[in-house]
Amino acid sequence: MDGVTVINHPLVQHKLTIMRKKDTSTASFRRLLREISTLLCYEVTRDLELTRETIETPMTTIEAPVLEGKKLVFASILRAGNGLLEGMLELVPSARVCHIGVYRDHDTLEAVEYYFKAPESLAERLTIVVDPMLATGNSSIAAVEKLKERGARNLRFLCLLAAPEGVRNFQAAHPDVPIYTASIDSHLNDKGYIVPGLGDAGDRMYGTK
Ligand code: URA
Repeated sequence: MDGVTVINHPLVQHKLTIMRKKDTSTASFRRLLREISTLLCYEVTRDLELTRETIETPMTTIEAPVLEGKKLVFASILRAGNGLLEGMLELVPSARVCHIGVYRDHDTLEAVEYYFKAPESLAERLTIVVDPMLATGNSSIAAVEKLKERGARNLRFLCLLAAPEGVRNFQAAHPDVPIYTASIDSHLNDKGYIVPGLGDAGDRMYGTK
């Protein structure tokens, strides 16, 4: 699919399989999500621009590569997005974090925001929006709308699993935002769950029902 990168790294695929199993415990699910999010973060940032900085090693002075531009922003869609944050922040500890509580009203189709806290100058930063499940796409579409309203121009969307329906809806709304995922699953069921999926990601990571 154009505009979608499926992260096929064997470690990602192996960990994802364990996460899908219905008998995987909350503790294991959470640990695997932290581990897999580090690997996903590695892939979603692999083409970041570098610049050069003069540094002194104990031996000599060199021009060495460092990341260019302002710090990255990781934008977590509450609540399941937070499960991806921890591992990503381990890899990029200087990243800024945005939290977005948003849903799409079923009747009006308007994006309803109940929480939004973001760093300054979104326009100058790469913003990576994270949510483990791209199902209908409604909340991700709404979250990206809100980020664009606040000035974000350079965005990527990272999830663990995507449904083809969600990918289509998201790309129709935000063709400028590339999607990164570990898998595009078969379909959505009539309750909006991804099949085969892994169930409710928030419930599985927090042990709720
Ligand atoms: N959200 C989830 O947590 N799981 C799904 O399958 C779909 C949406």
